[in-house]
Amino acid sequence: MFAEAFRNKTVWLSGHTGFKGAWLAQWLLELGANVHGFALEPDTEPALFDQLGLAKRLHHQIADIRDPAAVRESVKKSQPDFVFHLAAQPLVRLSYEQPLETYATNVMGTAHVLEALRGLKKPCAAVLVTTDKCYENREWLHGYREEDPLGGHDPYSSSKAAAEIAISAWRRSFFKNHPVKIASARAGNVIGGGDWAKDRIMPDCIRALQAGQPILVRNKAATRPWQHVLEPLSGYLWLAARLYQPLAAPKRLVSPKSDEGGSEGGSTLNPQLASAFNFGPAHEANRTVAELVAEVLKHWPGRWEDQSDPKAVHEAGLLQLSTDKAHALLGWSPVWPFSTTVERTVAWYRDTAANPQTAHALTTRQIEQYQTAAARAHVAWTTK
Ligand SMILES: NC(=O)c1ccc[n+]([C@@H]2O[C@H](COP(=O)([O-])OP(=O)(O)OC[C@H]3O[C@@H](n4cnc5c(N)ncnc54)[C@H](O)[C@@H]3O)[C@@H](O)[C@H]2O)c1
Repeated sequence: MFAEAFRNKTVWLSGHTGFKGAWLAQWLLELGANVHGFALEPDTEPALFDQLGLAKRLHHQIADIRDPAAVRESVKKSQPDFVFHLAAQPLVRLSYEQPLETYATNVMGTAHVLEALRGLKKPCAAVLVTTDKCYENREWLHGYREEDPLGGHDPYSSSKAAAEIAISAWRRSFFKNHPVKIASARAGNVIGGGDWAKDRIMPDCIRALQAGQPILVRNKAATRPWQHVLEPLSGYLWLAARLYQPLAAPKRLVSPKSDEGGSEGGSTLNPQLASAFNFGPAHEANRTVAELVAEVLKHWPGRWEDQSDPKAVHEAGLLQLSTDKAHALLGWSPVWPFSTTVERTVAWYRDTAANPQTAHALTTRQIEQYQTAAARAHVAWTTK
């Protein structure tokens, strides 16, 4: 798996107390990494971070990404081989209430990580996480490609577009002949066990079902690229592994013309890897919110009510991602179909509701199941 890239390697991970960060920390620990987490205290009750008992299993630092000195010191102290930057204010609706805080965290927070990376004097592969919402949404029927214009109607989406612009500018300005290689990752709507965020459809479903209440659906016709949290995480890990170990890159992908990347230890980095990547699901997983809720109810019976509000704040209607680049350059593709994604997600919540002590074992088992399915599908990160 991942060519053993993470075994005994040091990883600096921001946002490890959040939903995706906790899954990524768990997976990295299983891959043998030495993980240094940097984030605020978990802000949900329960929190996956606590359910997995992560505080005792990694270097756990509570600090603020808006504080440049704290970020710089933390990165310098850990001397990472890999960096995954996930810390963010990730909620669209909250960004309408707190636009300045959202920008401070998402844009300046990313710039602080970039500055901290500039200070490293050793090889390091960094994947900075933004979102599929960073594209200027034109409600296209086809998927957005990495070269499409960035934008965003709401403060969250536009903050992530601004973070992408910062990453690109820093890469071109400061990382051309630098041992640190930087990529950004744009993923779609992620579901999976252990997300307890406010205002997200899957936790909203589970909270309602647990309480025996109807699920209140505010945007039933919105179409999103739903995927299990392990799908983009496999993309982040593989992208980082490939950035770090350039020799693994197929020769035909190496462009001699580019001035990014360079040579390390006699190997050549494929310069196309130090760039932006989409990680989205297969077409069949581009579903409406109503379809997602109907699929959830197959596994946890209940009912839902349409709570559409014509005066609600704007949220994109249609959003899909093209993953052709990740497929061509990384051999990455999604593994679980929509039905399995929802089934595993609901099973996680249902089983941990019945027996809270099982969260860690269940998360580990789902990672194993995902790896097995990926290996059967011969996805590149399982065979290299
Ligand atoms: N969940 C999704 O569907 C989704 C989709 C696309 C992109 N993303 C992106 O993935 C990343 C992780 O999202 P998530 O769903 O796990 O979110 P989350 O809210 O569960 O976790 C956010 C993490 O960021 C940390 N954080 C927030 N503000 C911080 C600050 N000022 N200083 C330090 N740490 C801070 C939190 O403590 C937490 O660890 C984010 O960058 C998000 O934008 C998420």
